Amino acid sequence: MIKTVSTTPYKDQKPGTSGLRKKVPVFAQENYAENFIQSIFDNLEGFEGKTLVIGGDGRYYNREVIQKALKMAAAAGFGKVMVGKGGILSTPAASHIIRKYGAFGGIVLSASHNPGGPTEDFGIKYNIGNGGPAPEKITDAIFARTQVIDSYKTLDVADIDLDGIGSFDLAGMVVEVIDPVTDYADLMETLFDFAAIRGLIASGFRVVIDSMSAVTGPYAVEILEKRLGAAKGSVRNEIPLPDFGHHHPDPNLVHAKALYDDVMSPEGPDFGAASDGDGDRNMVVGKGMFVTPSDSLAVIAANATLAPGYASGIAGIARSMPTSAAADRVAEKLGIGMYETPTGWKYFGNLMDAGKVTVCGEESFGTGSSHVREKDGLWAVLFWLNIVAARKESVKDIVTKHWAEYGRNYYSRHDYEEVDTQAANGLVANLRDKLATLPGQTFGDLTVESADDFAYLDPVDGSVSKNQGIRILFKGGSRVVFRLSGTGTSGATLRLYVERYEPDASRHAIETQAALADLIAVADEIAEIKARTGRDAPTVIT
Ligand code: G1P
Ligand code: ZN
Repeated sequence: MIKTVSTTPYKDQKPGTSGLRKKVPVFAQENYAENFIQSIFDNLEGFEGKTLVIGGDGRYYNREVIQKALKMAAAAGFGKVMVGKGGILSTPAASHIIRKYGAFGGIVLSASHNPGGPTEDFGIKYNIGNGGPAPEKITDAIFARTQVIDSYKTLDVADIDLDGIGSFDLAGMVVEVIDPVTDYADLMETLFDFAAIRGLIASGFRVVIDSMSAVTGPYAVEILEKRLGAAKGSVRNEIPLPDFGHHHPDPNLVHAKALYDDVMSPEGPDFGAASDGDGDRNMVVGKGMFVTPSDSLAVIAANATLAPGYASGIAGIARSMPTSAAADRVAEKLGIGMYETPTGWKYFGNLMDAGKVTVCGEESFGTGSSHVREKDGLWAVLFWLNIVAARKESVKDIVTKHWAEYGRNYYSRHDYEEVDTQAANGLVANLRDKLATLPGQTFGDLTVESADDFAYLDPVDGSVSKNQGIRILFKGGSRVVFRLSGTGTSGATLRLYVERYEPDASRHAIETQAALADLIAVADEIAEIKARTGRDAPTVIT
């Protein structure tokens, strides 16, 4: 029943920050998905008879690619595939399933926070046996294979029914369709004080979660409404839709604005949270206080021992380079290790496997810990609820006190989306050329202390990742960072990250953009953003 299909390479299958992401019509080209999946399998050794986990965020084209992947896994010789019912697994749940059942690896189908639909985005990512995204060494090898692939193996059989729990035989391989939610929800109960959170909610503390018509709906309903007792309807947009109801499933102040406005209104809920397409991102809003992802990491780290799963303390903290240094001060105080990695969750895996870090975070609404090897949206939300329940203080009080103790890192990211690729590359090249001459130069009150193109030496496996973002650091701890997105699917996206450290508590209530205005102006002066992109203003400010 196994058939070998001859194919020709596609030149554009280079995985980015988080797997291969393209528009659906690109993925729908003949053999396009098959070429990439076979290129993954061709780089694996010793998987025969072992288990593969497959699941996705339910977006348009998810079901089609799952059927392809199932047949190809059987043809390749896997012993078993565990797949979420309806083809659904949130990214953190997929990571957990891989770890819990000792699977060889997993295929996660998602384009994360990018929109879904017939002309929108799709993605394929390979995760290794630790549950985390494949490291660069593997993604590079997969890309190399896509460039020469000439055939793939599949089965000539009918599609498998994924809409009921149960086991099926697929040419000698077992397909186990599992409930996507239970294992994950059970894991959360082992990490957090559900009784305390239940008590908080029962006392009248109103929590809402916006699942943005994406994958976390069923997870949030099970955990928040069923296990924690929140009122029915506390989870909004809870049904995953293939096009996310035309939402842009990215939890930030632009795309989750309705939720933000609701929590900020006097009669609105006390606590609001949102997550993205595949459930690994989170946004946390308390009454009168939006928590920046960088601050969220710092507060979670500083209060970690309040959660039962972290009661004995955390081993260390890691953050991506553009993420603010708020967590660094917590690590310093706790006397634990602090690691600064390139952008993308795949760099945290080695540090967690080696026991060097417990919590990790990125400024892009990503927080997580070594309970899985992906960032985890609902985990972060539950951590916050656990902290609020234990401290019996509002989110606003918790954050304000944190700043008073550690100082505040004002922080913002400005994205210039769908910029002309050549213009974006030119802007970065020009910055690189200037790096050597910047130190010592002054711009108003700001003096450049150092400037470089960030490179990372992985302390665990010794690998080096270069060109990970241009950093311009000023005296006093302020900085601007520039990098091009590795997840976009059309044109280039320039990201400008701006940070100012303010130790003085009497200056902690300034509006963020105002607090950063001089740095933003200097960033434009040095990088010539407006002139080179032809844009007056960023597309998205977070
Ligand atoms: C973006 C974020 C990055 C995150 C990635 C996947 O990547 O900036 O922090 O890990 O999405 O969610 P970028 O588009 O910047 O390459
Ligand atoms: Zn995501």
